[in-house]
Amino acid sequence: MADQAKVLPPEVAREVIDPHSYAQWDSLLDTFDRLREEAPVALVKPEDGKLFDPFWLVTRYEDVMRISKDNVTFLNNPRPVVFSFRDAIEFSRKATGSNMLVDSLVVFDAPIHPKYRRLTQDWFMPRNLQKMEGEIRAIANATVDRLVAAGEGGVGEREGVDFCKLVSAPYPLHVVMQILGVPEEDEQRMLMLTQQMFGGQDADLSGTGMQNMTPEQVVLLVAGAVKNFEEYFAGIARDRRANPTGDVASVIANATVDGEPLPERDMAGYYIIVATAGHDTTSASTAGAMQALAKDPEQWARVKADRSLLPGIVEEAIRWTTPVQHSMRTAAEDVELVGQQIRKGDWLMINYVAANHDPAQFANPRKFDASRSPNRHLAFGAGAHQCLGLHLARMEMKILFETLLDRIESIELAGEPKRATSTFVGGLKTLPLRFVAS
Ligand code: HEM
Repeated sequence: MADQAKVLPPEVAREVIDPHSYAQWDSLLDTFDRLREEAPVALVKPEDGKLFDPFWLVTRYEDVMRISKDNVTFLNNPRPVVFSFRDAIEFSRKATGSNMLVDSLVVFDAPIHPKYRRLTQDWFMPRNLQKMEGEIRAIANATVDRLVAAGEGGVGEREGVDFCKLVSAPYPLHVVMQILGVPEEDEQRMLMLTQQMFGGQDADLSGTGMQNMTPEQVVLLVAGAVKNFEEYFAGIARDRRANPTGDVASVIANATVDGEPLPERDMAGYYIIVATAGHDTTSASTAGAMQALAKDPEQWARVKADRSLLPGIVEEAIRWTTPVQHSMRTAAEDVELVGQQIRKGDWLMINYVAANHDPAQFANPRKFDASRSPNRHLAFGAGAHQCLGLHLARMEMKILFETLLDRIESIELAGEPKRATSTFVGGLKTLPLRFVAS
């Protein structure tokens, strides 16, 4: 028998949807701790009934896992896969005829989704990625060269460097742009567009400098970024059809589904999802790993001496930071979840941050513990939509930290790091460091 719907008090509902709460990490985690205990599946209702549609917030690991893996009962389409205000959905419908501004892998369900996913699945597997190792290592080396050259100080000592600006933002961007065939001179444009799409809620990252933008302003910003992306990638696709190479851009440009080339909008969507999903996420987990290591000089020394500890650090950093903070799903049928009756058509938020800090799954979850085993976190999602780029993300981080460990003797924090204001992809936007180069 289902219980009466648990509705979150307005102040808690506000906290969950307010991008500023995501910059106040510890108090947000406190809220998720309470919710997992008292209301693990709870209804979030807009106060005035206008801003957004109600949705169920799911916070326990076990339930987030179950929903992620059940792609028949819980669909990515037809409602946005990222929490959106009602105006945003309306705007998108008017502009594109779809509830989403971009149609891509994340918004497709079966039977279309597996057909599109298959197109690039092999390309993203470790066997193929190995071919890129030398190229990624060269990018890591050049990035660490810039870090070592930056800042002030005596021989080997460096003061006042921002790891986010110098390393964790540019490095994954450069890798993903290489695989998409984007020349270096266009990378800043790509970075700006991604930050407008994902960091639209953060004044520093969106490049607008505007605080507290209205949902409408955010949508306009995102829509402009999407259009810009579409135009740009149409050019890349034309080029890769004429001159195919081994990169993923060529695979997408020359792909067929059911014997037909991809429609323009879907092709642009494919490029956009790889371009956008592929760097801000990895930037956030990379910065988080460095933050954890900078706070714990002994751990830096240990892994410097024993590189077999590195994969554990990478995996724990991905859990500890959980850069993709949530996804949304729509119920395809009536279903009961932890005593709550979910109706067909209801909207659900699966909260990866809450799930990855569930003490039922992870002992002492706020602790950065590189020896966690097993570490079956949900930062990459699970089920049919599990991150396509997870092997690439791990490989990039491992190569970068190998390079950093070779070149840096010791590191420490040189100020308070700042988190981005964003409900969707979140993490550090500044990480001031002081270090001694080897
Ligand atoms: C630490 C880094 C990363 C994290 C935390 C992350 C997280 C995620 C999550 C949670 C999803 C699932 C969304 C859902 O279930 O609805 C996802 C999907 C996806 N990710 Fe990642 N990602 C990362 C890096 C990357 C990289 C490097 C790439 C590619 C270059 C990438 C490409 C994709 C794509 C294409 C999808 C859509 C898959 C589908 O819907 O079938 N990601 N990612």
